[in-house]
Amino acid sequence: MKLVFATHNQNKVREVQQLLPSGIELVSLNDLGITEVIPETANTLEGNAKLKSDYVYKNYNLPCFADDTGLLVDALNGEPGVYSARYAGTRNDAHANMDKLLKNLADKENRSAHFKTVISLNLTGKTLFFEGIVTGEIITSKKGDKGFGYDPIFRPEGYKETFAELPLEIKNKIGHRGKAFSKLITHLNTHHATN
Ligand code: IMP
Repeated sequence: MKLVFATHNQNKVREVQQLLPSGIELVSLNDLGITEVIPETANTLEGNAKLKSDYVYKNYNLPCFADDTGLLVDALNGEPGVYSARYAGTRNDAHANMDKLLKNLADKENRSAHFKTVISLNLTGKTLFFEGIVTGEIITSKKGDKGFGYDPIFRPEGYKETFAELPLEIKNKIGHRGKAFSKLITHLNTHHATN
């Protein structure tokens, strides 16, 4: 079965392909010649993931999954959440986003937060969701140079280091995206493996 991963990020596709049962061939939006950015206009992570998987299913008649991730900060009522990429403006500027978050949290005592990844899978017109969460806290200044996005200011529960200081293998094992993808992969291995 050909399965579309609704992303233009070839690295993400390569990583996930290695974990899938043989019998499932992953194709990206680039492989399909889809250059347009699918609008993410929903106000939830679930909604945006579904918009992307539905778009491919409806327009190309191919089974598809899509992911969407956000950082949800308790003292800010779940901000930046679905707006994580563009918190400080339309450009996905990680440092500006972190600076804005640190400023908005400056007078808050509660610094608890969690990353959440949602994957929506549309194989036959019906949508299934898989979710991964990692809880932690937002520290007061940036630490570490690994990773991307908000990693330098997020310290996962049970660790002294931020995601930007921890090795990628640990982030993948305890992190939001790794957890969501392992649920998707278990589902595909259980229900759609051909050998
Ligand atoms: P996306 O849905 O994977 O594109 O993620 C949306 C935004 O959330 C990114 O632009 C980052 O700002 C943030 N983000 C997603 N995943 C991570 C992560 O693993 N670490 C830090 N920030 C992340």
